[in-house]
Amino acid sequence: MDILTLQEKLDKKRRMALGFFPTPFYKLENLSKELGINLFIKRDDFTGQNLFGGNKVRKLEFLLGQAVEAGAEYVFTYGATQSNHAMQPAAASRKLGLKPVLYLLALVEPDANCWKGNLLLDRIFGAEIHLVKALPDESLFESTERYMELARRRMKELEDEGHKCWSIPLGGADHIGTAGFIAGYTELSLQLACEQLKLDYIFHANGSGGTMAGLVAGRQLLGEETQIVSVDAAKHSEGFSREAARLGNSALKWLGFEPILTEKDFFRDEDHFAPGYELPSQKATEAIKLMAAREGLLVDPVYSGKALACLLDYVKDGRITKGGNVGFWHTGGATALFAEKEILGSLI
Ligand SMILES: Cc1ncc(COP(=O)(O)O)c(C=O)c1O
Repeated sequence: MDILTLQEKLDKKRRMALGFFPTPFYKLENLSKELGINLFIKRDDFTGQNLFGGNKVRKLEFLLGQAVEAGAEYVFTYGATQSNHAMQPAAASRKLGLKPVLYLLALVEPDANCWKGNLLLDRIFGAEIHLVKALPDESLFESTERYMELARRRMKELEDEGHKCWSIPLGGADHIGTAGFIAGYTELSLQLACEQLKLDYIFHANGSGGTMAGLVAGRQLLGEETQIVSVDAAKHSEGFSREAARLGNSALKWLGFEPILTEKDFFRDEDHFAPGYELPSQKATEAIKLMAAREGLLVDPVYSGKALACLLDYVKDGRITKGGNVGFWHTGGATALFAEKEILGSLI
């Protein structure tokens, strides 16, 4: 499929203008020299609309397009207390005159007298914030089920009062949000075509799977061969790639394409999230310091720092050959640098 046909399909869907696209794409000269590769960066940390961009803005342009079309008044979403995903809908809802309601799981206990990072921003955006404590004997799945039930009750309360509510799933990972990253891949493909460049690899951080599913769907639609390395930021269940294929296919169907993805189209690295989600790793700490020291750029300890650590390991162990063209899709998240010390680790 050619890029323009794909673009036409994307343009048919309602989309709110929230960010500044295309995001910059350029070569990181200093790190390229040091690593012996051609390392390029896609600056989705720079999507706008405020200082703290990130990958969710691409999803939200489509997700909130549907919310507005449905006449929603309240927008519900969910995540951890330092969730970038929760903060971005709060900001975007305000711009669109909608009221954000957040259910946030306290994996790291916030200090009620000193709100930090995204939680502070959620508060400044005036979101209705519900903090839910993680219980010691509960799995992440069970905690999520528990706060989703609380959210459903609040939504019912508002709907009984006559308000229209809209729910954005965890990470914005449904067919609509995923379409945002089919658009993202298309955008990069155009930039590469202009520079007559082909990438051997794209590295990015993987959370809910929406970014991954959209990028892989875009690549498959355009018939390109770039290896997309999706670096898990958390432990995922066994069927995660199969679910991602389903998610990507549902986005393709929504856009009017045939489903073409299978789990074999995904390549996930599961070796760089340890010790766990929102828990710092030494490798990510070193990657953050290297990016800051060589390029004056910031990546974060939860997502983009772990993805960069993986890229650096693949260079070190020869999986990426010298002279290769490698893209680092910077998905944002630097607000975590202003979060609790449990998230920062030995960075300071
Ligand atoms: C900074 C950052 N990078 C990457 C991701 C992963 O994106 P996805 O949930 O689409 O897999 C997230 C998700 O919250 C994020 O905040």
